[in-house]
Amino acid sequence: MKQLDNITITKIKKEFLSEFAKVSTLEQIEELRLKYFGRKGIIKSLFKQLSDLPLEKRKFLGEQLNTISKELSSMIEEKRTQLNLQVQQQTDIKLTKLYRSLPGVSFLCGNLHPLQKVLNEIIYVFVSLGYKVEYGPEIESEDYNFTKLNIPEDHPARDMQDTLYLELPSERNNKMLLRTHTSPVQIRVLLANKPPIKIIAPGRVYRHDNVDASHLFNFHQVEGLVVDKGIKLSDLKGTLNYFIKSIFGSETVARFRQSYFPFTEPSLEVDIKCISCKGSGCALCKNSGYLEVLGCGMVHPEVLNNVGYGYEEYTGFAFGLGVERIAMLKYGITDMRLFFSNDLRFLKQF
Ligand code: PHE
Repeated sequence: MKQLDNITITKIKKEFLSEFAKVSTLEQIEELRLKYFGRKGIIKSLFKQLSDLPLEKRKFLGEQLNTISKELSSMIEEKRTQLNLQVQQQTDIKLTKLYRSLPGVSFLCGNLHPLQKVLNEIIYVFVSLGYKVEYGPEIESEDYNFTKLNIPEDHPARDMQDTLYLELPSERNNKMLLRTHTSPVQIRVLLANKPPIKIIAPGRVYRHDNVDASHLFNFHQVEGLVVDKGIKLSDLKGTLNYFIKSIFGSETVARFRQSYFPFTEPSLEVDIKCISCKGSGCALCKNSGYLEVLGCGMVHPEVLNNVGYGYEEYTGFAFGLGVERIAMLKYGITDMRLFFSNDLRFLKQF
């Protein structure tokens, strides 16, 4: 092989430059790189030849080779960056053209759970009437959940709501449980405030029930409580009539029917004309023409007494409604379990 010299190096650089000038694609620049800088490339082989030269020449040509090698490889890299950019711009243009002719891309957008929607509506109705929103704990004492609400031990009403008791250390014989209704918030609010009291208390409640289309062991209620001087049954009826019309529509007719709760006297239940058959009788209303919506009544004097209020001076009304129940009636849902099945086909409808 001819010995390495200055002329060879200059010649190779010249060749490189003329080839480089013709490069117009990323593939070509890679080919050129491999040809000169690959493992068996021209520049590599020139470096190998250096070792056969006498020291002086080796030093001189080595330096030259180094400079040229750096120069050429940085040219390659620069060209590659430039070509990459070009390719990117071209695909951008292509994509823009492509997307313009396609239908719009729809993207997934979450929405509120139907229960949250209904709860928001309920809260809105009462807040706009000047009610404050209060919250109580889900782990409650037997005293607040039952005793102070005029449901003494052995009272059959404790069986009315199958209770989940907790094995927690009890304070002064006060057993702890998962609240079976939001009514204990009445006691908490009455103890912590002075009349006028006008609150609603939304929250989760628990009952030892077997799950079926109309029972869950865990559901939601909204409690309402108004206590002041001179609160009358007509205030309760006016408020709940307004509430029913706001939620189910202004043409909805409410019916107040006598009922029983230990913490209200008198106790009432509110029904609405069946939304399905409009009162003529169907499967949904079990031929009664009406659907139960909520329980309510005038606060029992014994409850006021239990929290140290003079019941000669103060009166009040209370109500408790099931959020699932309202949502079912509002949307015509016949199985309560659907709310917690996380089935998108169900959830997307709201
Ligand atoms: N706490 C009752 C229940 O869960 C509902 C209710 C609340 C009734 C307030 C009257 C007054 O069934």
